[in-house]
Amino acid sequence: MSEPRPNVTAAVVASTLLLLRDDAALGHLVDRRSLPVVELAVRQVLPSAGWMLDHVPWPVLRRLAFAAEKLVSPSFVAHYALRKAAIREAMRAAVADGHRQVVLLGAGFDMMSMSVPDGARVFEVDLPATQEIKRHALREARVRDVTFVPADLSRARLRDVLRATPGFDAAADTLFVAEGLLMYLDVAAIDRILADLPCERRRTRVIASFVTPDARGRVRMHSQRRVVDLCMTLLGEEFVWGADAAGLRERLERHGLRVDAMLANADYAGSLAGRRKPTRSSGELIAVASSASGRARRDDAPSTTSWRENTSSA
Ligand SMILES: C[S@@+](CC[C@H](N)C(=O)[O-])C[C@H]1O[C@@H](n2cnc3c(N)ncnc32)[C@H](O)[C@@H]1O
Repeated sequence: MSEPRPNVTAAVVASTLLLLRDDAALGHLVDRRSLPVVELAVRQVLPSAGWMLDHVPWPVLRRLAFAAEKLVSPSFVAHYALRKAAIREAMRAAVADGHRQVVLLGAGFDMMSMSVPDGARVFEVDLPATQEIKRHALREARVRDVTFVPADLSRARLRDVLRATPGFDAAADTLFVAEGLLMYLDVAAIDRILADLPCERRRTRVIASFVTPDARGRVRMHSQRRVVDLCMTLLGEEFVWGADAAGLRERLERHGLRVDAMLANADYAGSLAGRRKPTRSSGELIAVASSASGRARRDDAPSTTSWRENTSSA
């Protein structure tokens, strides 16, 4: 992925949350407290979005945005809101189960850190230019204490960068969240990251979203049109890696991580009403996995199955 400019895809994903602030069907899926901070970051990365927010009446802007969504990637907005709600729930369950450190890998601009319950320390690992925007937005808003860890995970070892991070305790039970990250990395980088997650000194839990290949074997969101493929390629932010559920399960197990749940939004979307409800699978799944020592107290943890267990590939 290109640097030093901030990640555009992360800003586009974050901007979809802004659309939902008063959405009757999906509004309950977003953490509304985070939206002003999301907006600060989006305005920095996408000045055109800021201009539209300032000059186009809100009802018109929403209509235009959802019309564009229908054309380029149907149910894109609902997909991300569902994904984030499911991850937030699994994250809260992990913290309730005693994970006192949360490491957000490829954190982007969605301000997920603001949804981490108090009592857990938050670390964000991201590319430096993307992180700089985020750092500025969070500082302006003075909302959450986050330790920023600038790193390119396609090169640097996660283990090394965390070891060098003040305040990171290698012996504390830790949750790692990789939402919307793995698809941008090659398989060698993914294996290095997965190898660095388990540690015999602590319990480790992982929440990772990943893209399954579509019917033609392409690694992309299944509903997106070619124009999105083209834009991602032009930005240098195209997907590189994908796996089906069995492939990811096998890869996690090779690194000492056992899958506790495999979640798909098509199931969870059943509870949504109206026209925002996704009508087909996005192709992206969420795996929740833990290391052997991390499963010791799992039975006490709140359920993470708002997205139904789905062991087949999407
Ligand atoms: C699509 S965004 C997802 C952001 C956020 N997690 C979300 O779901 O909204 C991808 C994120 O991964 C980060 N990223 C991509 N390649 C990376 C790399 N090699 N090392 C570290 N972070 C990377 C980007 O900077 C960006 O924040």
